[in-house]
Amino acid sequence: MENQTIIRFENVTKQFDANPPVLNGVSFEIERGKFYTLLGPSGCGKTTILRLIAGFMEPTAGDVFFNGKRVNHVPANKRQVNTVFQDYALFPHLNVFENVAFGLRIKKMKKAEIDQKVKEALRFVNLDGYEDREINEMSGGQRQRVAIARAIVNEPEVILLDEPLSALDLKLRTEMQYELRELQRRLGITFIFVTHDQEEALAMSDEIFVLNEGSIQQSGTPTDIYDEPINRFVADFIGESNIVEAKMIQDFLVEFGGQQFECVDQGLQKNESVEVVIRPEDLEITSPQQGKLVVKVDSQLFRGVHYEICGYDDAGNEWLVHSTKKAIVGDRIGLDFDPEAIHVMRFDETEEDFDKRLESYQEGTKHE
Ligand SMILES: Nc1ncnc2c1ncn2[C@@H]1O[C@H](COP(=O)(O)OP(=O)(O)OP(=O)(O)O)[C@@H](O)[C@H]1O
Ligand SMILES: [Mg+2]
Repeated sequence: MENQTIIRFENVTKQFDANPPVLNGVSFEIERGKFYTLLGPSGCGKTTILRLIAGFMEPTAGDVFFNGKRVNHVPANKRQVNTVFQDYALFPHLNVFENVAFGLRIKKMKKAEIDQKVKEALRFVNLDGYEDREINEMSGGQRQRVAIARAIVNEPEVILLDEPLSALDLKLRTEMQYELRELQRRLGITFIFVTHDQEEALAMSDEIFVLNEGSIQQSGTPTDIYDEPINRFVADFIGESNIVEAKMIQDFLVEFGGQQFECVDQGLQKNESVEVVIRPEDLEITSPQQGKLVVKVDSQLFRGVHYEICGYDDAGNEWLVHSTKKAIVGDRIGLDFDPEAIHVMRFDETEEDFDKRLESYQEGTKHE
């Protein structure tokens, strides 16, 4: 298929009354058949984006496209989209079969066809045999699967899932993460999943959009976002990180903690103030003589697989280390790391700024 884009947002703004906008010129593309996650703190606009995709509301400005057609004013029931809501919104007075069959009955589908489609959908979510059960006799995880069966039975092009796992306990939640991901692969339908849990987003997604205060901070694969966070917000929100103030001496050379280090970053101003991110698992404990940095150990916690060690360098920067080696509180230890482990960020840079910067830098070097 030539064009794989199924949904496109172009500069979408959403404002309620005279309040400040909850979405500020959001643009993105969703490709067919992938698992997307909208990730961000409470109130950042995740549900608002889902509602705009589903057609429950219209943008204040900007455009929403579905398969290349502008759909700003197309109502929800005319879109090839189904939503799984956080509370599942199942009908408590109907049994499992009737909950799943509901949409098909409204479409006035023939009984034999309904029977077949509902059975198929229930088999898909491992609930065959549960047709006659009442909703209030089902566990949280089972209800969740009924809600998904009710969405897939309509054979939509896109399924929207608004924090569908947040009501489940940790073990069930992890199981459902695998199940949902597996289900998406088998169905090949585009899933847009909302969560504020970064681990869940990293584990499940083909692509993540990190949102804050109504703007997309960064989009990319889980590894892109984890390894190359674009700014402090993303670095902080996704996983644990060491973020220290630094100075970019020149391309491939950065200074922090009173020393200069080789790095792989380029395209910044000489002597520009920047921030540096190093993930705790990229720091290796050595003797103080062998380390690139020397840190005095302030605290240590055993986390099962690794120790979490916290210390300070002589410049006063705090360093968090994940290591299978144990340290002793009060000792001075060395920290070693590769140039690739250093990730340089500009203050408050957005993805758009970053792309522009890279482009103009590459242009510049072409003419030199
Ligand atoms: N109908 C509305 N009228 C006024 N303000 C609204 C309306 N719907 C949402 N908002 C506001 O828009 C902002 C974004 O809301 P949204 O529900 O999209 O956040 P969210 O990212 O889904 O948060 P959560 O993780 O808590 O569900 C919030 O500040 C919310 O109060
Ligand atoms: Mg929400």
